[in-house]
Amino acid sequence: MISIRRARPGDAAAVAAVHVAAWRSAYAGILRDGYLADLSEIRLAGFYQRAILDRREGHAVFVATATPEDESGPPQVVGFASGGRARRRGLAEGEVETLYVLDDYRERGCGRRLMRAMAAHLRAIGCNSAMAWVLEANPSRFFYRHLGGRTAMREAIRVAGQAVDQIALLWDPIDTLLAATAPVPQGRPQGRLREEG
Ligand SMILES: CC(C)(COP(=O)(O)OP(=O)(O)OC[C@H]1O[C@@H](n2cnc3c(N)ncnc32)[C@H](O)[C@@H]1OP(=O)(O)O)[C@@H](O)C(=O)NCCC(=O)NCCS
Repeated sequence: MISIRRARPGDAAAVAAVHVAAWRSAYAGILRDGYLADLSEIRLAGFYQRAILDRREGHAVFVATATPEDESGPPQVVGFASGGRARRRGLAEGEVETLYVLDDYRERGCGRRLMRAMAAHLRAIGCNSAMAWVLEANPSRFFYRHLGGRTAMREAIRVAGQAVDQIALLWDPIDTLLAATAPVPQGRPQGRLREEG
């Protein structure tokens, strides 16, 4: 059983662990090996604890949790998303800043449901449009396109001193993202997933 809920401060270490695992997988061959190897779960746990507690600019963190198939233990964090009012003015009112799902839990609806939680949250705080930045070399850009995101901008940035290109995906109005992430009808795999507040 996979559920989506708002993150709690106690989730910070698990969110950091997902961040490190997902970055090492998703950015292998895109960002330098040494940089990915040096990612620190402890430092990131501190970062995410502050992010979970700091609700300025409508910032929110959502987690996807999974109960082991044999229900042998408590639910584990297997993915997360975060965002709030857009950090940069002019492209969109709201921004999905992070979205990461563990490799073993991909293609099971976690990403779509986390995007829906973010879209519903952003609309609730008054954002009429939403955007997300993604590295152009990251195949996950096709996930955002699949959910209706339109390429609105492309720019060169530096990540850990390395030059990379990123693109902005835009949903304007934000209802296009809500429609693209609407719950799948019963009978499809995602139909058995449960929504939480
Ligand atoms: C991108 C990511 C969050 C998608 O999560 P996910 O849980 O696998 O996605 P879902 O199972 O909810 O997929 C929803 C739909 O998108 C499709 N999809 C998933 N990943 C896709 C991809 N890379 N390209 C195109 N379509 C994709 C699914 O097939 C599914 O299609 P459907 O409409 O037929 O059901 C996940 O692959 C991930 O964490 N990637 C690595 C981290 C990353 O790059 N994050 C983005 C940083 S900006």
